[in-house]
Parts: sequence; structure tokens; C-alpha cells
Amino acid sequence: MTIDAFVFDAYGTLYDVQSVSQITKEEFPEHGDLITQVWRLKQLEYTWLRSLMSRYRSFWEITEESLIYTLDAVGVESTKAVRDRIMDKYLHLNPYHDSISALDALAGVPRAILSNGNQEILDALVRNTGLEGKLESVISIDKGGVFKPHGDAYALVEKTLDVKPQNTVFVSSNAFDACAAKNYGFQVAWIERVTREALATEIAAADTVGPSTMFKLLRMQMENFGMEPDHRLKSLDDLASLGRARDHERSPNGNAPVA
Ligand code: LAC
Repeated sequence: MTIDAFVFDAYGTLYDVQSVSQITKEEFPEHGDLITQVWRLKQLEYTWLRSLMSRYRSFWEITEESLIYTLDAVGVESTKAVRDRIMDKYLHLNPYHDSISALDALAGVPRAILSNGNQEILDALVRNTGLEGKLESVISIDKGGVFKPHGDAYALVEKTLDVKPQNTVFVSSNAFDACAAKNYGFQVAWIERVTREALATEIAAADTVGPSTMFKLLRMQMENFGMEPDHRLKSLDDLASLGRARDHERSPNGNAPVA
């Protein structure tokens, strides 16, 4: 199939949202992991609930609201300075080990982000982590005022890049996002960061299932919607083989086939 663009989810796909634990564990040594996991669960939940209520707020505001919820629920005191320090990590999240190599390998085909993050924080994150020259476009859903998985959010790709969904590979390790992108009409590559087998082994070895395992159970396994992604990949580096498959489809004169 023709591939005219690769479009990546940001948080959890190119960027490791778990890297906030470097700060949450420093600030709250006893509850760092619990705070990290509940915060991310609530943050996503708030995007969905606000979309359903038609009460849009920027991802930055939602990230702060869900952090405050989490700290209150866990029962720890925090100052604004501490919360600001934790929030700041969202502007400096660690890219995954395979993000840069994968983006480099795909150079030549337009590469973009489509994320629930608002434009300002996405641009800052991309700039702060050196991914700036590796992306042709950074698309925020805030232009549409509704979060993924709403179709209006995915529609921004065609509007911005002028590419058809069927000729676009949408890449996400968030299973809900992969399913919704498939539902919308993209070719979808789901990055399976935690296999079912690895998770089963982790659960079997644990005396008690902890917050991080719970997060993997809730957010890192394929959803049961009957919307299977086209590709299940172990690593972002495997995307290059999809690009090569496209090259093989080219006619001998080097022109891409007419879609
Ligand atoms: C994003 C969320 C889904 O980056 O993590 O859009």
C-alpha cells in the first residue's frame, strides 16, 4: 500500500510518560510509582470525560488538574513549586530508545506528530528533546477542540498534511488510540511495548500486583473493540520495514504506483 506519511502519537509512543517517575520518586519517595500511574490514568480519563461533556481544556491544564487529583487522592501535601517541578517534566519527557533512530530511518517520507497535547507544550517538548529537525509537522488536536479518540481529532491529519488516511500510517502504542485510528481509516501500526506473555510473567512473579503492572494491564494491552491494527510491532525501528515494503511497490522507473 502507498505510504504518503507516518503520523505518530506523542505521549507513550515517541515519549516515555513513565519518565516522570524520575521526579515523582524524588518528591514523594514512598508513593512515586503510585502517583506516576494514577496521574497518567486520570489524565487520559479527563481528556475523554471533557470531550464527552464538551468542556474542552488544554492538555496542559488537564495534566495539572489530574496531578492535583492524584496527589489529593494519595493523601500527600504539595506546594505549587513541587507541582510545577513535576509538571515541567512533561516538557522534557525522555524519548524512547527507538524514537530517534526510527524517525531518522523514515526520513524522506513526511513524519508528523498528532497528539492530544496542546501546540505550545508539544513544540516545547519536541524542541527540548532534539526531535525538531526529524518531524515535518507537529499537529495538536487543540485546533479542533476535541481529544482523540474523537474522529475530528484524526481529521486534522488530512487537513494539515493533505494526505488520505488510507495512505497514512498512524503509529501509536496507546491501544485506544491505535483502535480509534483504525476506525477512522488509517493504516495503523501498534507498538506493543509490553507483550501479553511478558505481562503474564510479571503477574505470575508478583506477590501483589503493583501500580505499574496495573497500568500495563489497563493501558498497554490491545483493546477488545474488534478493530485490530494492521501491524503489531515490537519497536518503532520496525516501521522502516513498512517503508521498504512501499519501495518494493514502486514501478521500475522509480515512480510510486498510482494509489
Ligand atoms: C497523545 C496521548 C494519547 O499523545 O498520549 O495524544
